[in-house]
Amino acid sequence: MKVALLPGDGIGPEITPAAVRALAELAPDIELVEAPFGAAGIRGFGTPLPDETLRACKEADAVLKGPIGDPEFDAADVRPEQGVFVLRSELGVYANLRPARDAGTDLLIVRELLGGIYYGARGVRDDGTVYDTCEYRPDQVERVVRRSFELARRRSCKLTSIDKANVLETSRMWRRVVREVAVDYPDVELQDMLIDNAAMQLARAANQFDVLVADNMFGDILSDLAAAVTGGLGLAPSASLGDGPGGLFEPVHGSAPDIAGRGCANPSAMLRSTAMMLDLAFDRHDEARALEDAVDRTIAGTPTPDIGGSASTTEFADAVLAALAR
Ligand code: NAD
Ligand code: IPM
Ligand code: MN
Repeated sequence: MKVALLPGDGIGPEITPAAVRALAELAPDIELVEAPFGAAGIRGFGTPLPDETLRACKEADAVLKGPIGDPEFDAADVRPEQGVFVLRSELGVYANLRPARDAGTDLLIVRELLGGIYYGARGVRDDGTVYDTCEYRPDQVERVVRRSFELARRRSCKLTSIDKANVLETSRMWRRVVREVAVDYPDVELQDMLIDNAAMQLARAANQFDVLVADNMFGDILSDLAAAVTGGLGLAPSASLGDGPGGLFEPVHGSAPDIAGRGCANPSAMLRSTAMMLDLAFDRHDEARALEDAVDRTIAGTPTPDIGGSASTTEFADAVLAALAR
């Protein structure tokens, strides 16, 4: 069994050792193949996703990725983020599962990951107008919606579909496809919700939601909000799945350049992404549960500064390892 490990940029290489240590403890047979990605890829190879890195990801049974992004490249033609879009589409991982939970809330955002405004036509017209286009084919919507109904069925049978059908053609098609798929899931309670209201409802009473499905952009934004109302961005993991085995596992958060280099980043999101990988890519449910529990206990007992404590990244990782050994 092989995992391609992409530490990434900023706090990425700081939070990755926690995951490496947890895997050495829980799944020592899994071989980790480390590869450069993001700004690290640009610096070493002139591209955020070097060929070798993509090959390692495709050959692996799963990909565990730290956050990428570096202010140095924000205005450059070649940017770390471009590697993320290529990697996700090369792996075919269209369903991005972003859970958020705390004492009162337990929800799952399913973000469509391979379409919409991230992948539509873009450019500059002669008059200087710059455009990005939100584009979806019905089958791209159908597969992620079907996946969401399946997930809802295994939870509390409630699905909220997010769109902007009062304005956007893509959203009207999205809503139509949702209705068509819903016929196959009469046991799942379905509601449509406009994105602006959904953001307000998430901020006001996140506990009303179970599974939410949203397009690429709406899902990106709502998942940061869901993380914020359930403890913070440093806690939020994700799993990106396609129809095949494996998947791409990465925190919801970015490279946090504002705190990078200080050794105080919260590795919880990276560790919870590792737990999702053990669970979903390797069917190692007991190990995944053990890691989740160890992270939960450490969040309560040895918190990092972002969640009100003073533990360093290493002290947090030490506490997770100690909890795993118990
Ligand atoms: P960010 O998620 O990096 O940071 C937002 C805020 O949350 C910052 O104050 C940061 O310090 C804090 N934060 C995030 N993760 C944390 C953690 N683990 N522990 C403690 N605090 C944490 O968002 P940003 O600042 O808008 O973006 C920075 C860079 O990250 C950009 O280049 C962006 O493109 C990139 N990014 C990458 C990914 C990814 O690789 N999937 C995701 C989001 C953003
Ligand atoms: C995320 C990030 C990425 C996205 C960026 C870095 C391209 O914000 O994974 O949530 O928008 O998909
Ligand atoms: Mn995001």
